[in-house]
Amino acid sequence: MQIITLLGSARKKGNTASVLSWVEEELKSLGHDVEHIYLNNKSIGGCLGCFKCQENPDEIACVQKDDAIDIMEQMIASDAILFASPIYFWGFSAQSKALIDRGFSMVTNYQKPGHTSLLKGKRIGLLVTGEDSYEENAEGMFTTFDRLVGYYLAPKAGDLYVAGTSAPDALSEAVREKALALARSLVG
Ligand SMILES: Cc1cc2nc3c(=O)[nH]c(=O)nc-3n(C[C@H](O)[C@H](O)[C@H](O)COP(=O)(O)O)c2cc1C
Repeated sequence: MQIITLLGSARKKGNTASVLSWVEEELKSLGHDVEHIYLNNKSIGGCLGCFKCQENPDEIACVQKDDAIDIMEQMIASDAILFASPIYFWGFSAQSKALIDRGFSMVTNYQKPGHTSLLKGKRIGLLVTGEDSYEENAEGMFTTFDRLVGYYLAPKAGDLYVAGTSAPDALSEAVREKALALARSLVG
């Protein structure tokens, strides 16, 4: 399978990147192709809300010609997609959220007859790291993710919240095991 991973932390060797590297190593060891995208050095403008993209369901008809277009093309060309984000103020990092918002141009007619998605059928996963517990902290991100897979018409293929982060070298073996399990569920 072709898998695209979308790192939404600025910290290339941070907690999210470290857990993600375990996921990616496992995917590669299972024989899959992994394309890792570091969103922080990409130019991804926020959605303009112009709705021009909604006029064409068959392509990414976004008026903003920045790096989001190429990334979305790679998402469409993949079999599975993994969003990886730190939790920032109970939500996705800005780098991740900008791409999620631009994903508006891959879906038309949400909650209407004729709902279509260029990501239909792709396996989608979510990895989040945060300092605090899941409860009263991370629920919103995972609720968003559940809605997002419905929006994409794509199966949810696994999610993982890693709580209690401090430094990457303090991540436990138990977290590594969960990362490996996420990799396996991503590819079904
Ligand atoms: C601006 C900012 C906001 C944060 N907000 C939260 C939060 O709402 N909940 C939480 O549990 N951790 C929060 N954290 C902690 C990070 O999510 C946590 O350290 C994460 O593992 C960082 O991942 P990284 O090393 O990949 O950047 C925040 C950190 C920063 C810098």
